[in-house]
Amino acid sequence: MILGIAGSPRQGGNTELLLDQALAGARSAGADTEKIVLSKLQIQGCTHCEGCLETGRCVIRDDMDLLYMKFREMEALFIAAPIYFLGLPSQLKAVIDRCEAFWVLKNKLNQAVSLTGKKRPGVFISVAGAPDKTEIFNPARRIIRAFFSTIDVVYTAELFFPETELKGQIREHPTALMDAYTLGARIARSL
Ligand SMILES: Cc1cc2nc3c(=O)[nH]c(=O)nc-3n(C[C@H](O)[C@H](O)[C@H](O)COP(=O)(O)O)c2cc1C
Repeated sequence: MILGIAGSPRQGGNTELLLDQALAGARSAGADTEKIVLSKLQIQGCTHCEGCLETGRCVIRDDMDLLYMKFREMEALFIAAPIYFLGLPSQLKAVIDRCEAFWVLKNKLNQAVSLTGKKRPGVFISVAGAPDKTEIFNPARRIIRAFFSTIDVVYTAELFFPETELKGQIREHPTALMDAYTLGARIARSL
């Protein structure tokens, strides 16, 4: 199963449109896909309570439980989220921080996060309102790379579109939606 995470609080926005295309492309190549829209879930941030230190399991019970399971089962991961103040939307950052429990599982308890035993490709799809003159995607890319490595995902591809501010504006881009579709199909074929 390929898991797609819609990380923007703006439902039906640019990154979600791109994610839908990537997942459709993956399905066209025969993959099963699941999409999770973070803004429909209630996920608290990490409190650094150290409750996961002995077990690699978070003590907070909320909708993150669904994601903990999916992150272990999935064969590939597509994350789509816009740039917010050079970083990621807080809804997605909360998910990433809650994966501190997986960091403990992997690095302190020497256990794999992945249940598949196979290399799991990861894709990061993002947009930003500003032009890319300031390398606007770099900080978020670094966060996603660290996140992927913690959950046994290999950072395999990225799709970035600057100068995309208004809801749905990505539809006007000459290739973006097709780029996402093609990438989704390519990742699915590689599994
Ligand atoms: C809180 C907030 C912070 C943002 N920060 C940035 C930013 O630092 N740089 C930028 O280029 N665009 C920024 N944007 C613009 C969004 O990246 C842009 O509107 C994007 O298209 C939203 O994607 P979505 O439709 O998938 O939600 C910000 C938007 C919001 C709401």
